[in-house]
Amino acid sequence: MLILLTLCLLLFKTCFSNSISENKGFITAGGELYKNRCANCHGDNAKGKSNGFFLSPSLKDFDKGYEEFISILMNGYGRMPAWGGRSKLTNEQLNQLASYLKNISSKKANWK
Ligand code: HEC
Repeated sequence: MLILLTLCLLLFKTCFSNSISENKGFITAGGELYKNRCANCHGDNAKGKSNGFFLSPSLKDFDKGYEEFISILMNGYGRMPAWGGRSKLTNEQLNQLASYLKNISSKKANWK
């Protein structure tokens, strides 16, 4: 069991080592993805949005770090369904989203 856990962790680290990019193309692609897949709930420019029943938080202040971001997207989080309720995203797409969000984030945010 412990071996399995260690293996998973190692795999997780190699697959999802923090690949946030300052590359403009990456950030732009992330912005497009955000518009198509997230803006509906999280609002334009990720500033958060209420749908009348509950609030989808602003993502500008996201402070849980990169690995937690990946985990939230893959597994869902509270009222947010995995992948935002749509089809899976590739590692590259997840990193594009993270790059975009970090690029527009506030000082409070933590993407490490
Ligand atoms: C169907 C609506 C919906 C969609 C689509 C959606 N989210 Fe969410 N998201 C939520 C809700 C609601 C929460 C808050 C969950 C809670 O607190 O119970 C949340 C929480 C989060 C969080 C955690 C924020 C924090 O500070 O704890 C992240 C990160 C996140 N969403 C990213 C994304 C990204 C990136 C996308 C696009 C791929 C996306 N979400 C699409 C509804 C959505």
